[in-house]
Amino acid sequence: MIRVEGLSVNFGAVKALRNVSFEAPTGQITAVLGANGAGKTTLLRTISGLVSPQSGTIHLDDVALVGMATENIARLGVGHVPEGRGVIEELTVEQNLRLGALSSKVNLNEGLEEQYARFPVLGERRRKYCATLSGGERQMLAMARALIAKPRVLLLDEPSLGLAPQVTSQLMKAIRKLCETQSLTVILVEQNAKSALRIAHQALVLHLGSVVAIGDASSVADDEDLRRYYLGVVVT
Ligand SMILES: Nc1ncnc2c1ncn2[C@@H]1O[C@H](COP(=O)(O)OP(=O)(O)O)[C@@H](O)[C@H]1O
Ligand SMILES: [Mg+2]
Repeated sequence: MIRVEGLSVNFGAVKALRNVSFEAPTGQITAVLGANGAGKTTLLRTISGLVSPQSGTIHLDDVALVGMATENIARLGVGHVPEGRGVIEELTVEQNLRLGALSSKVNLNEGLEEQYARFPVLGERRRKYCATLSGGERQMLAMARALIAKPRVLLLDEPSLGLAPQVTSQLMKAIRKLCETQSLTVILVEQNAKSALRIAHQALVLHLGSVVAIGDASSVADDEDLRRYYLGVVVT
């Protein structure tokens, strides 16, 4: 479980997060929704230790993460798939996956085979350069690269960005399946509220750095005011 309490992050005069508190339960998907600039990426970067908060705490089970080095947070089992995916274009699929396994103790060959079984298209393209992959394939690679280190927590930053609706829907199903089969704790950041709410267990909505709503995914999806004012979508 990830527990965030009273988290505030400033960038100079910009208050990117204001007193944010929530729990992301083990084995469930917590969607973090909100418009551009709401603070979603900052939240994930703060959990990963890439950004230092002004105040507040973050716990992974009983371990306090604030102040810990990013690599140690990763070693504890926090996998982060950044906005824009962060795969290295000049490397092949397999070389990218090897990088993901670098700092962990997992058996590399077993790890590769596991990811190829999970995402068969990556196995087919293992020797292809990433520059040749489609957007959906890159997102799968970015996820596989995080998963090869066997994380307990997976932070996903806008995985659906730029993907066609059908590809997004497949990806969301893959995320749900992962969560169920690996009992992963997933924090899913999305502007695409509709897709995220279909697979999430609970959701929180950020607006200008503050939590304006938190609850079961279905109650957030059913709240017309939230949809109209903060999510900008018609959720069906
Ligand atoms: N490294 C940074 N330096 C200065 N301002 C930043 C930085 N990162 C984010 N911000 C600001 O913090 C706010 C939240 O940004 P961000 O977390 O990227 O939002 P989101 O991911 O929801 O679009 C925005 O106003 C953004 O301009
Ligand atoms: Mg963002």
